[in-house]
Amino acid sequence: MAALKILVIPGSLRTGSLNARLAAVAAHQFAQAGVDVTRLSLADFTLPIYDGDLQTKSGVPKNAVDLKRMIATHHGVLIVTPEYNSSVPPLVKNTIDWLSRVHDANEDRGQIFRGRPFAIAAASRNRLGGARALAALRLILSACHALVVPNQLALAFADEAYDDRDRLKHSPDVEALTAMVRQLIDVSQRLM
Ligand SMILES: Cc1cc2nc3c(=O)[nH]c(=O)nc-3n(C[C@H](O)[C@H](O)[C@H](O)COP(=O)(O)O)c2cc1C
Repeated sequence: MAALKILVIPGSLRTGSLNARLAAVAAHQFAQAGVDVTRLSLADFTLPIYDGDLQTKSGVPKNAVDLKRMIATHHGVLIVTPEYNSSVPPLVKNTIDWLSRVHDANEDRGQIFRGRPFAIAAASRNRLGGARALAALRLILSACHALVVPNQLALAFADEAYDDRDRLKHSPDVEALTAMVRQLIDVSQRLM
């Protein structure tokens, strides 16, 4: 059987991003489990803010088509999102909006989400750990017909969550990450 491939997408471009850091830790855990893991940066897939007139005039941008095709080469996806004003940041929502408009030959629009396993995680300095962004992201992905696994990680006090070897130091965080990683692997394997 081919190796299981998981794509990890940090939802922040910021230097020193807490979410990019958590994405790196999660990617390491997937690799430890024998998964073929890819961690990308959305800086390599920059997109204009969604505008229906732009789409009518120029079509869906190449970066959205390329990202859709990259997702298609993976069996499961982890999105690690910041929380902005109790929801997902524009970078994450705009990327999903464009992906939902990609229409490759012999496919329905938004086909990339349908039945594809996703896991979601968030990191924040506050005590909720981005839980409200996760609720919003779960709703958005589910509306796109993605299979969002139940286990998730909301990493609270994310700037103090690591030891000096960049490992999560609190056992509830370790357990939540492990359960989420395991569940995405299991569901993706069943559907590959
Ligand atoms: C516009 C804006 C709104 C924010 N709103 C929230 C919020 O609702 N909840 C929260 O936990 N953090 C909020 N934050 C703080 C972010 O969680 C924090 O900046 C975090 O470091 C961003 O993720 P990153 O480090 O991966 O870039 C907000 C930050 C910005 C810039």
